[in-house]
Amino acid sequence: MRDVPRTELPALLRRMPKAELHIHIEGSLEPELIFQLAQRNGVTLPYASVEALRAAYAFTDLQSFLDIYYAGASVLLQEADFHDMAWAYFQRAAADRVVHAELFFDPQTHTERGVDIGVVIRGLRRAGERAQAELGLSSALILCFLRHLSEEAAFATLEQALPYREHFIGVGLDSSEKGHPPEKFARVFARCRELGLRVVAHAGEEGPPAYIESALDVLQVQRVDHGVRCVEDPALVRRLAAMRMPLTVCPLSNLKLCVVKSLAEHPLPALLAAGLCATVNSDDPAYFGGYLNQNFVETFEALPQLGAREAYTLAKNSFEAAFATAEQKARWTAQLDAVFA
Ligand code: ADE
Ligand code: ZN
Repeated sequence: MRDVPRTELPALLRRMPKAELHIHIEGSLEPELIFQLAQRNGVTLPYASVEALRAAYAFTDLQSFLDIYYAGASVLLQEADFHDMAWAYFQRAAADRVVHAELFFDPQTHTERGVDIGVVIRGLRRAGERAQAELGLSSALILCFLRHLSEEAAFATLEQALPYREHFIGVGLDSSEKGHPPEKFARVFARCRELGLRVVAHAGEEGPPAYIESALDVLQVQRVDHGVRCVEDPALVRRLAAMRMPLTVCPLSNLKLCVVKSLAEHPLPALLAAGLCATVNSDDPAYFGGYLNQNFVETFEALPQLGAREAYTLAKNSFEAAFATAEQKARWTAQLDAVFA
């Protein structure tokens, strides 16, 4: 691979094609859109202005973020709201050269407020179809169960979602990690696997490496979301590398939720050096200070160990880890190779 001067790295990172595999679509709701939707739907927000809301985005841990994130999602009521939110994300993603995006959505956040799951899925699906038609961006939906709720509630959500089975490719597990280990959802994930759904789970973001192990062993996940705390267990790092288990790493999220003290201390270089299939993602870009390219650029700026070779590897890993066809992956890889030629 040709050497790229560090001054040229940001432009290379911005123009390389890439897949985004860890984005909570509710986490792409910008404060301006939150206020617009609140007005459209007659929802009263506990913040006086866009500025006051943005000023509240000072998080100390995952829970302090989730409290505000769920409050922001309370403005989503109609199919058009879900469409508008996802369409705004797809336009930003396309500008970042995202060629494929797999979107998490949290149905329980909406059904608990009386919104029908069909409203959620139809709105998101319509935006996905529009992204393919108008932006050439392919996408898929992954339904997440909220782990602070019961497994029974997850089963009920799965039941509600099954009439829309063809509109989502898999299930995930998100929300408050500590105290809610993967094994709490063993039965519902077994049922999802039987149904032929892809399975992923957040593990090792705030929770210990043991949660990553139970995501692998009990839930039999195909990707680990975050997973950064695996670095505390060298045997687990070797296991993840040997099985090419993808980790969807979210550097700006880790910084803003105080999982790492600074980007300079982020374990991404160590994960790549260990041969892990790590990818870079934005998690909740409206809350954490940037979309996918911002994550790439700031992370590479803070870590001199990361250069053009690692940029290529991260983009290639995102295609390898995507739930996409061999033909799609080959096409994206050829586009990537053209940028690095
Ligand atoms: N929901 C949205 N963002 C999340 C994160 N980073 N961890 C767990 N649950 C989430
Ligand atoms: Zn996440």
